[in-house]
Formats: sequence, structure tokens, C-alpha cells
Amino acid sequence: MTSGPQHPTPDTHACSAHPADPSMAPAPDAERCAHGQAFEILSTCHEHIGERLGALEEVGRALRDAPELEQQHLATLGEVLAFLDTAIPIHSADEEQSLFPRLRALPTFAGAVGDTPMDCMEAEHIEHGDEKARLKAAIVTRDAGAVGRHAIALANAYRSHIAKEEEVLYPMARQLLTDPAAIADMTEEMRARRREAGLLKC
Ligand SMILES: [Fe+2]
Ligand SMILES: [Fe+2]
Repeated sequence: MTSGPQHPTPDTHACSAHPADPSMAPAPDAERCAHGQAFEILSTCHEHIGERLGALEEVGRALRDAPELEQQHLATLGEVLAFLDTAIPIHSADEEQSLFPRLRALPTFAGAVGDTPMDCMEAEHIEHGDEKARLKAAIVTRDAGAVGRHAIALANAYRSHIAKEEEVLYPMARQLLTDPAAIADMTEEMRARRREAGLLKC
């Protein structure tokens, strides 16, 4: 009697993971997004987002003691928010529409409706949107201190989330999703989103 393929036991604690070093690598060549496979596209997006988080943290720290928002602060915030507003919906769709459904369909997660690492990450996606809205509101009301606090909070939230995905969820997904056809389908879905958005970078 032969047994079927064994599925490794996933780490289901992505929400509570606290990686020791959340620092991000510099953004790589954009060609990786244009030609990489699904998991490379996802991680490249994280690196590009991480690069902007550095700028967000810098302006957040500068504003902690600043009496008012200056043009240089607004210029940085505008660039960062333009990037996040463009890249995050694409990246979240990559995860929520391409990666997570394929993970949920695996026997590993049978019966675990609403209680998987993917559900945890989706909940955090919503929290990020709420925090970004608070940052924008603080910019509109020209509250320098609040802008600084929300900029730091948003950067911390994204860094923590990205670290959980890179160190817990993606390694688990790479172990569980090994069908080349499924990887190819995910890759094409991700590329299609970028073609539709007219982007080479993500
Ligand atoms: Fe995510
Ligand atoms: Fe992500």
C-alpha cells in the first residue's frame, strides 16, 4: 500500500510571528517583476514597498518635532502615497485572488474556514487601508504631529506584515504549492494585472 503525497504542516501562526530583523533590502531591478515567477514577483513587490517605507519613516521622524508641514514633507508623502495607492491594490490582488485561494483549496486547510494565516493577512490588509486613510486625513488637516505618528504607524504595520509573509506565509506556500501549472497560472495572473495597469514595476 502506498501513501499519497505528504503535505507539510504549515505554521499557522503568521499573525503572531515577530521576526527579529524587519529591515528591508534595496529595491531590485524592475525586470524581476516583468520576467520573474509568481513568488519572485510577490517578494519583489515587498522590496519595492519596503524602499518607500524608508522614506515614510524618515518623514515621520522629521515631523515628530516639526511645528508644521513643509513642502519637502508634502512632496515625500505625495510620492510615497502615490506609490502605495498604485502598488498595494495590485499586490493585494496577487495575494487575495491568486495565492490565497489556491492555498485554501489544499487539503492542509480543509475545514479551516476563516482561521488560516491567509485570513489573518487579509484582515491586516484592511487595517493598512484604515491606517493609510488616517494618515491622509492628518495631511489634509495639516496636523504635523498626527502626520508623523500615522506615517510611522503605517510603516511599522507594513514592515511587520511583510516580514510575516516573507518569513512564515510565503515559505509555507512554496512548500505546499509545487504544481508547475499552478505556479505558471499565478504568474500569468500577476503579469496580467501589471499589463492592465500599464506598469513594469510593482
Ligand atoms: Fe499581504
Ligand atoms: Fe504581501
